[in-house]
Amino acid sequence: MAQSLAGKRILLIVGGGVAAYKSLDLVRRLRERGAGVSVVMTAAAKEFVTPLSFVSLTNAPVYDDLFSPTDEQEMGHIQLSRAADLIVVAPATAHLLARAAQGLCDDLATTLLLATDKRALYAPSMNVRMWAHPATQRNLARLHGDGAWFVGPNSGEMACGEFGPGRMAEPLEIVAAVEAALAQGADLPPVADLLCITTAASLAGRHVVVTSGPTHEAIDPVRFIANRSSGKQGHAVAQAAARAGARVTLISGPVTLPDPPGCRTIHVESAQEMLAATMAALPADAFIGVAAVADWRVAVAPQKIKKDDAAGAPALALVENPDILATVARAPGRPQIVVGFAAETQNVVAHARDKLLRKGCDLVVANDVGEGSGVFGGDSNVAHLVTREAIDTLPKMSKAALADRIVAFIAGSFSSARGENA
Ligand code: CTP
Repeated sequence: MAQSLAGKRILLIVGGGVAAYKSLDLVRRLRERGAGVSVVMTAAAKEFVTPLSFVSLTNAPVYDDLFSPTDEQEMGHIQLSRAADLIVVAPATAHLLARAAQGLCDDLATTLLLATDKRALYAPSMNVRMWAHPATQRNLARLHGDGAWFVGPNSGEMACGEFGPGRMAEPLEIVAAVEAALAQGADLPPVADLLCITTAASLAGRHVVVTSGPTHEAIDPVRFIANRSSGKQGHAVAQAAARAGARVTLISGPVTLPDPPGCRTIHVESAQEMLAATMAALPADAFIGVAAVADWRVAVAPQKIKKDDAAGAPALALVENPDILATVARAPGRPQIVVGFAAETQNVVAHARDKLLRKGCDLVVANDVGEGSGVFGGDSNVAHLVTREAIDTLPKMSKAALADRIVAFIAGSFSSARGENA
C-alpha cells in the first residue's frame, strides 16, 4: 500500500448519521496510507457507532466532550484542531452542516470547526429531501464560500428506502478527496489577511478605473510579444473596489481569469488599446494602474514575416509605448488618487520612490518580482506602499488582502481630503 498520506494528521469528526459505520472503514483506509487519525464524535454519532470501535482502530482516545477536564488537560480543543493537517467531517449530517455554517460551537465537534486554521472537507450524508432543501443548500453555499471542500453525496438507494442524492461518499472516494485537498494546501488565509478583508473601507459613489494583466504587442498578424503577468493582482484590486461599493471599470489585457463580479470589464490587447480604453473611461475618482504594460511595441509588419523574408533572423524595430499611468496622472481632470505598481527585481523601494515622482502618482505599490519570489502568477504578494511621506512595508499576504489594503488607502485618502475641505 502506497504511503500517500505518510506523516499527515487527519482530524475526523464523525456526525450522527447511519453512514457513521462507513467512517470506521475510512479510518482504516487513512491509516493504511500512513495518516495519523484523531477522532471526535458528536453525541448523536455515538447512537450509531461506539467510541470503542474508533479507539480500537486508531489506538488513540476518542474525543467527544467539550468540557472534559481530562481531555482538556491531555490535549486542549484548540490544540486538537491546530495539530491536524486537515479536518474531515464524515458523515456530515444536515444538522452538523447547519451548525458549522452558522459558526455555532455548542459541542466539541463544532468548536473545533470554528477554532481551526485549516479548511475542512465535508462528506455530507442525509435523506434526499433534506439534501435538496433550500436551507441545506444555503448552508452548503455558505460553507463553500468560507473555503470548505465537499466530497459526495452519491446518488442511490438510501437507508430510509428513498432514492436520490444523499448517500455518503465511499471511504476510498473520501480518501481520494483528502489526498487532493492536502495537495492543494488546506491552510485558511492568515488572520491578518482576514482582518484586512473585514475592515475594507467604503468607496460608495466613487468611480474607480483599474488596468490589469499583460499587454500583447503584435510583431506581425500572427505573432506577438507578451509578459508573464497573470492579471490576478489587478483583478483582485478591481474586485476589492467593487466590494467596497465603487463603480469599477476594469481594463484588462489578455488573461485567462473570469471577469470579476460587479465590474464593467473592457478587454484590450495592446498598450495603445489599453491607453485608449482608459482615457475613454475617465473621469474617475481613482485610477489604479496594475497592468504590466509593455514598455515597447514592435513596428508591426503588415504581413506574416516569412523565414525567407530576411537573411537570417529578422531584427525587430521597437517603438516606445505611451505610459498610461503617467498620462492619466497628468491628464486634465486627473483622478483625485492615482496609484501605480512597481515590479522590481532590485532596490525595490528606491525605484518605487523614483517612479512615484516621475509618473506623478499618490501611491506606488512596490513589489519584488525577482527570481523565486513567486509573485508572477502566484496568489500572494510582498509589497511596500510608497507615498511621498512614508514607506509601509507589508507582510506577505494574499493578492486579495493586498487589494483590500490598497482600497483602504484610497478610501482613507478620500476621507482625509474631505476632512481638510470641511
Ligand atoms: N505603466 C503604464 N504604462 C506603461 C508602462 C507602465 O501605465 N507603458 C504602469 C504600470 O501599470 C505600473 C507602473 O506603470 O503601474 C510601473 O510600470 P513599470 O513597467 O514597472 O515601470 P517603468 O516606468 O516601465 O520603469 P522600468 O521599466 O524602468 O522599471
